[in-house]
Amino acid sequence: ADPDPLQDFCVADRNATISVNGFPCKPISQVTSEDFFFSGLMKEGNTSNIFGSTVTLGNVLEFPGLNTLGISMNRVDFAPGGINPPHSHPRATESGVVIQGKLLVGFVTTNNVYYSKVLSAGQMFVIPRGLVHFQRNVGEGKAFTLAAFNSHLPGAVVAPTTLFASTPSIPNEVLTQTFQVEEEVINSIKSKIGGTI
Ligand code: GLV
Ligand code: MN
Repeated sequence: ADPDPLQDFCVADRNATISVNGFPCKPISQVTSEDFFFSGLMKEGNTSNIFGSTVTLGNVLEFPGLNTLGISMNRVDFAPGGINPPHSHPRATESGVVIQGKLLVGFVTTNNVYYSKVLSAGQMFVIPRGLVHFQRNVGEGKAFTLAAFNSHLPGAVVAPTTLFASTPSIPNEVLTQTFQVEEEVINSIKSKIGGTI
């Protein structure tokens, strides 16, 4: 979903003080092999949080060689029973492969139709750009998946944190009216979700 590049590569200069649509390129004389390789997805993420899952990012911010190339990857680790909660990526379609374990992968269309399947290691999924989706570990042990995106910075709108852990908070009357519940329910959710980000 990103624009086409105008050169072979444009390794992000993270020290640049100017900002463009992406990052400026670092001088070619400073580009090395190291700029095109990334080891950040090798290790298992820490899943000790209320969701029992963690996303390890491999986007342009972590891997500057991806700048302007319109592609990136994540690793998501799951404790048994863990969930990567409902979220969407405003700038990318996502396709992933389960590497270990058994995941229920689901998404909902703009017409509120739900599609899902339980996947085992080696099986792939696709999440059309912008649609709300989740993965849940429904196996006995740990699980993890690698996901690819057609953006160097897909972005993630995570439903629970967007609604219940923004800064400043969305006013309680907006949330009680939206979900048709009493304020104590909203306060309870806010107190739990607030600690996760
Ligand atoms: C998984 O859905 C991810 O966004 O990494
Ligand atoms: Mn996703």
